Amino acid sequence: MKIWHPFTQEKTANAPIKIVKGEGEYLFDERGKKYLDMISSWWTNLFGHSNGEIAEAIYQQARKLEHVIFAQFTHDPAEQLCQELYGFLPKDLEYFFFSDDGSTAVEVAIKMAYQYFYNRGFRKNTYINLAGGYHGDTLGAMGAAGNQSDYHSTFSEFFFETFSIDFPQSLQDEDIAIEKLQIFLKQSGENICALILEPLVQGAAGMKIYRAAFLDKIVKEVRKYEVIIIFDEVMTGFYRTGTMFAMDQCSERPDIICLSKGITGGFLPLALTVVNRKIYDAFLSEDWKKAFIHGHSYTANPLSCVAAIKTMEILKREEIQRNIKAIAQIHEVALKEMESIFHRRHLGTIAAFEVESPRKAKEVAQGMFQSGIIIRPIGKNIYLIPPYCTTAKNLEYVYKMFRAYLI
Ligand SMILES: Cc1ncc(COP(=O)(O)O)c(C=O)c1O
Repeated sequence: MKIWHPFTQEKTANAPIKIVKGEGEYLFDERGKKYLDMISSWWTNLFGHSNGEIAEAIYQQARKLEHVIFAQFTHDPAEQLCQELYGFLPKDLEYFFFSDDGSTAVEVAIKMAYQYFYNRGFRKNTYINLAGGYHGDTLGAMGAAGNQSDYHSTFSEFFFETFSIDFPQSLQDEDIAIEKLQIFLKQSGENICALILEPLVQGAAGMKIYRAAFLDKIVKEVRKYEVIIIFDEVMTGFYRTGTMFAMDQCSERPDIICLSKGITGGFLPLALTVVNRKIYDAFLSEDWKKAFIHGHSYTANPLSCVAAIKTMEILKREEIQRNIKAIAQIHEVALKEMESIFHRRHLGTIAAFEVESPRKAKEVAQGMFQSGIIIRPIGKNIYLIPPYCTTAKNLEYVYKMFRAYLI
């Protein structure tokens, strides 16, 4: 018997480290060594590990109702969560569809966009994305990210038609990218089903940050045609970029938003695809086939929902909001002081920079690990996305160790 781990080359990877306990920003291995989790365990644990209040909410709910089929039935935790989230979202995003993780939130969005047109008698099967974006590992989510993804080219034979907007490195690049988009739209605008992108930060591309004004320009161009706009805020949501959603820093709004990861504070899987009335109404019919025939066994699991309700409550607290700002400030100052790094960037609680090669990034990560700090470079990009409970002292220690290993 052997466990096959995700995103792992099993032939060459070191044996996984057994973690036995988590507490705040710390993880503890079986030998009692403690580590600072500076990637919030794949960007999920907003308040660090084993938050007592979320654990208690789950426990209380588990004694009342642990799960119920979500077709034909509903429950208070799901309804309360949507009500709570609705308070944070633009008022026209008001129809909430549950699923289990970031990939399914995206899968749902791209299927809804396609069926939105299909139900009205149109066939549109081309998606626009921002080059290098990542939207998950299911077939549809991989397909939407397109051929330019570094992760999924093995499966490119299965992908649908996409057009990738160039990712800009400069203002001039932005103009060129928009011009190319305009040309494409002129030629193929009628076949475009949806635009999908990660607003402001492309996570799995290596925490690549771009300007809100560029996003707004893209959306304005695409909106000249009948195209559904999907914002994948699976990673950027819940104050990762300094605001509740990255889109809060932009002028343009989507028709569909995808949420997951931090939504339960890192306790349980849960996702939401939230849409506006235009989308919802296109599925209303006497014909069952026009319904959205999609669902997962654990859809809207009540334990996940109460974890998410508690997460929203904690997020609103002054102390957390203060910490989010403090983390952002430390990133800004510390990045400036670092030498031997390239392309330094930060937004909210996310900080990233490049080193000369992927090999150097690996060496730095190994050194940091010896010093009890968990990071996971992507190629030559090194990034931090710490939990919001991370103290200034700990974050400054992390930067001090970076300076030591970057020499
Ligand atoms: C922007 C974005 N979308 C979708 C996903 C997929 O989420 P999951 O891993 O929960 O399926 C990820 C995961 O990293 C992501 O960063």
